[in-house]
Amino acid sequence: MPSAADLLAWYDRHRRVLPWRAAPGQARDPYRIWLSEVMLQQTTVATVGPRYARFLARFPTVQTLAAADWAEVAEEWAGLGYYARARNLHACAQAVAAAGGFPREPAGLEALPGIGRYTASAVAAIAFDAPMVPVDGNVERVTARLAAIEEPLPGAKPRLTEIAAGFMADPAARARPGDFAQGLFDLGATICTPRNPACALCPWRADCRARQAGIAAELPRKSPK
Ligand code: ADE
Repeated sequence: MPSAADLLAWYDRHRRVLPWRAAPGQARDPYRIWLSEVMLQQTTVATVGPRYARFLARFPTVQTLAAADWAEVAEEWAGLGYYARARNLHACAQAVAAAGGFPREPAGLEALPGIGRYTASAVAAIAFDAPMVPVDGNVERVTARLAAIEEPLPGAKPRLTEIAAGFMADPAARARPGDFAQGLFDLGATICTPRNPACALCPWRADCRARQAGIAAELPRKSPK
């Protein structure tokens, strides 16, 4: 089994500085984390950066976003696409403001407008250190390679989700679920990349079955559309 301590040690050295990341030891604001996760759903890290800062300057808290007119929110969202996301964002802010804050439990988060399994897990882990592993495309790729899962996506998704959830059996992961999740994102974005993965630099290289089999770059496979 790959060790969570190895991933966390790698993350502590190589973590990307991103606008929505609290510095180590700093308070984590669920509003900021939720906003970043919604923006990142269909938009790249590079595009989100400046738009995220601008959005927060205009709506610094969930209360200010909840109290805004829809027209203002739509204006600030312009160019980010997917207006349903902005509609849900506004509705979610209103529900959270009315409730006096974000729920800490994944189930409570998932009941909010626009928050699915992935976003609920990401916010619960990153903002509240709930023992969850959010599974995005990066995490699918890392887990498919680690366990050399040859079954193509999307069929392999439940298996990959199960493998990812299994990381939380490691006490080192349970001690820092938010950093562990972000370590997985960064590993997938910078080392375990879709093409030409930098396996020689990977903290999990000794445990990676796809690397041992020489097929890391081929996984995860995709079903023909
Ligand atoms: N992609 C989705 N969420 C992310 C995060 N918190 N950090 C980096 N990349 C991400």
